[in-house]
Amino acid sequence: MATPRIVMKLCVAEIRAEPGDVRVITLEHPSRPHLPPFGAGAHVDLHLPNGRVRQYSLMGDEKDRSRYLIGVKREPEGRGGSAWLHDQLALGDILPVSSPRSHFALAPGTSHLLLAGGIGITPLLAMGRRLKETGQHFHLHYFARSRASTPLLSDISQALESRHVSLHFDDEPATQCDLVALLAPRQDDQQLYYCGPAGFMRAISAAAAHWPEEAVHFEAFAAPRDEDFTPEPFTLRLASSGALLPVPAGESALEALRSVGIALPSACENGACGTCECGYLDGEALHRDGVLRPSARANRFIPCVSRAKGTLTLDL
Ligand code: FES
Repeated sequence: MATPRIVMKLCVAEIRAEPGDVRVITLEHPSRPHLPPFGAGAHVDLHLPNGRVRQYSLMGDEKDRSRYLIGVKREPEGRGGSAWLHDQLALGDILPVSSPRSHFALAPGTSHLLLAGGIGITPLLAMGRRLKETGQHFHLHYFARSRASTPLLSDISQALESRHVSLHFDDEPATQCDLVALLAPRQDDQQLYYCGPAGFMRAISAAAAHWPEEAVHFEAFAAPRDEDFTPEPFTLRLASSGALLPVPAGESALEALRSVGIALPSACENGACGTCECGYLDGEALHRDGVLRPSARANRFIPCVSRAKGTLTLDL
């Protein structure tokens, strides 16, 4: 089970507008010079009014512990978190922010391929900076609709050398890139990292299907949606007590557990952050998350979105 994270009250020290309806928000501690350390690829939870919790990757320099930088794109179809951060958050506001956590970290390898779609650039910018500073071989490909609407280009050019970066814009045919061709060869020990919107994630997952699982690292904004999925009721068995807990079709396993006083930690509640992850011992899980690796699905479960057939025994 994930460990609950420390929540700090941080001050909004700077807000910068970027193309593509993105705001870069700088968060500092009101009195302490240093924030908890983080590694490239880590994210924090922002606790917004009305109990909403949203995850944002840290895009700043991990050596600079005086501040956290996040990039927030306004998502008109979202659940209101980004709109609040764009429309309501102001300089000097105090925001509860969790300590950093990561499911998306650099792995040992002789070279690293970073693929970013739109605002998915934020964790990969931090990774590129780290790889450059440590003298490792890497290349960042950044995919976006148009040059004019692409955020953080100046941050990229400040942090990275142009030889490490390729930009690909939908409206500039000369810049376009064939993902299948890009991912067809894999150098020994090469590591792949990618982050972006759902269609981008699907395309990369398909093009990299032949890569070994341990060489592929990703972070999704949300679990993939399957419009044809119809939730069915199922039953949870709690291994520690043997108690049986019915999960109705209209309720998540996380909600069912909460209803009997088992409050697993949670954040996104859309299968993307892994905060609610727990283990299971037997049963047929229907995994619907965007965070677990295929090999983890044999015994790990994301109860905010995943379901089961029949009875699933949770290791709780
Ligand atoms: S709370 Fe984020 S994956 Fe469940």
